[in-house]
Amino acid sequence: MTEQVIIFDTTLRDGEQSPGASMNAAEKMRLATQLEKLGVDVLEAGFPVASKGDFDAVSRIAGKLKKTTVAALARTSKSDIDRAWGAIQHAAKPRIHTFIATSDLHMHYKLNMTKDQVVKTAVEAVKYAGSFTDNVEFSAEDASRSDRDFLCKVFEAAIEAGATTINIPDTVGYAIPMEFSDLVKYVMSHTPNINKAVVSVHCHNDLGLATANTLAALSSGARQAEVTINGIGERAGNTSLEELVMALHTRPNYLPLRSNIKTELIYPTSRLVSMITGIIVQPNKAIVGANAFAHEAGIHQDGVLKNPMTYEIMKPETIGLSASKLVLGKHSGRHALRTHLKDMGYDLSDKELQLVFTKFKELADKKKHIVDEDLEVIVTEGILRPPDIFRLEYLHVTSGTTVFPMASVKLSINERSVQGAGYGNGPIDATFNSIAKLTGTQSELLRFSVSAITGGTDAQGEVTVRLSEEGLTALGRGADPDIITASAKAYVNGLNRLEYLKANPVVAMT
Ligand code: KIV
Ligand code: ZN
Repeated sequence: MTEQVIIFDTTLRDGEQSPGASMNAAEKMRLATQLEKLGVDVLEAGFPVASKGDFDAVSRIAGKLKKTTVAALARTSKSDIDRAWGAIQHAAKPRIHTFIATSDLHMHYKLNMTKDQVVKTAVEAVKYAGSFTDNVEFSAEDASRSDRDFLCKVFEAAIEAGATTINIPDTVGYAIPMEFSDLVKYVMSHTPNINKAVVSVHCHNDLGLATANTLAALSSGARQAEVTINGIGERAGNTSLEELVMALHTRPNYLPLRSNIKTELIYPTSRLVSMITGIIVQPNKAIVGANAFAHEAGIHQDGVLKNPMTYEIMKPETIGLSASKLVLGKHSGRHALRTHLKDMGYDLSDKELQLVFTKFKELADKKKHIVDEDLEVIVTEGILRPPDIFRLEYLHVTSGTTVFPMASVKLSINERSVQGAGYGNGPIDATFNSIAKLTGTQSELLRFSVSAITGGTDAQGEVTVRLSEEGLTALGRGADPDIITASAKAYVNGLNRLEYLKANPVVAMT
């Protein structure tokens, strides 16, 4: 009989720890709603003690979700746990997730605590969390580099204190599958009261093994997997939800485990995360990358035409990637647009739909066919962005082989219009210089990339910039059929995100 694996999604917490991935409250709420629709069992909404913004976002999500368990992260201190509970106490299904490190390295250098102190602290934290809810998860940070017997001792004490889930994180992505599978078996056979708790794993991808390690752990008896959409997360990221779920879905004979994930919502959710965070999915990313179902070699194309199973182990439709995308044009009406956006995971209010509809018509005048990616850009640019301080009103650029590149820019700064001009090494440099001068910002441009998000010469160009100022970094995205305008939009978007971060500093986890 197939057993159930609990999918614990931490896109909004560990995923948000990806450099530059911070999301505002509205974006987090939209993503949380989509994740519930996707079918995740537990959603880690954030780390409420980190900032007021994080607390408020977790609290709003806790108030909205009905089917999904909402978890809040807390260190083992009472103040962290109070904050976590404060944010989720009104949730239909709340969970407090508390953690402390158990490796010698972390206990000695980071915590400056003895083993006995760590066990005592863990027990007190679990008991304290348990005074609020009977759904308590305990994580032993850096478990994969911890002494195994000590790990079992901590887990036994945590379960005794009331933990209902115990989590084995490979915090630094150090484990390899055989070793991690063995660790899970060891914990399960050397923790006397293990049958009173669900065993969970949380893997990082530093060696590119997060999904493999998670699968290995499930094959050894773990029954909760902690994952993120697109595998985003601290450093090289976490186990990716889509890889894990599709591995279970595609190879049921090998691992007879089922999940509650609606696989056909995987692709729209992946796009939504990419749109919101500005983190582009690498083209060769398994399952959701642009090339995941593209066949380049003639022999492969021929085979797929004769029978898709020759080179495709999954059907694109299974993850919600329809082979023939619905194309909207300038004659499409509001109703068709609303229905289509709903399928893509955007359930818009009447006011939001009106905004999108107007922009859609404007784009349809410039571009014959509007495809899903165009709509995503309109929605994310028009609705999901953090509140803008800076807005691009006008841009005129002169450039060519015989003129010195110059950009005239008009911006609205807190609803006040300002204009100016500047020179640069090229039209984009001139545009960025003018914008920086007008906004009085000093950010450093760390990265600049351009890609075509739709095919053809009338494709929208998508520009991503990475900016840094005052020790903060932010991504900015902009799209437009004109590359220089797309660059200006991305730059302004990045500056707005930096301003947002300055106003909502996220306290770094220690
Ligand atoms: O990677 C890690 O150890 C974590 C814990 C907080 C679970 O993210
Ligand atoms: Zn982690």
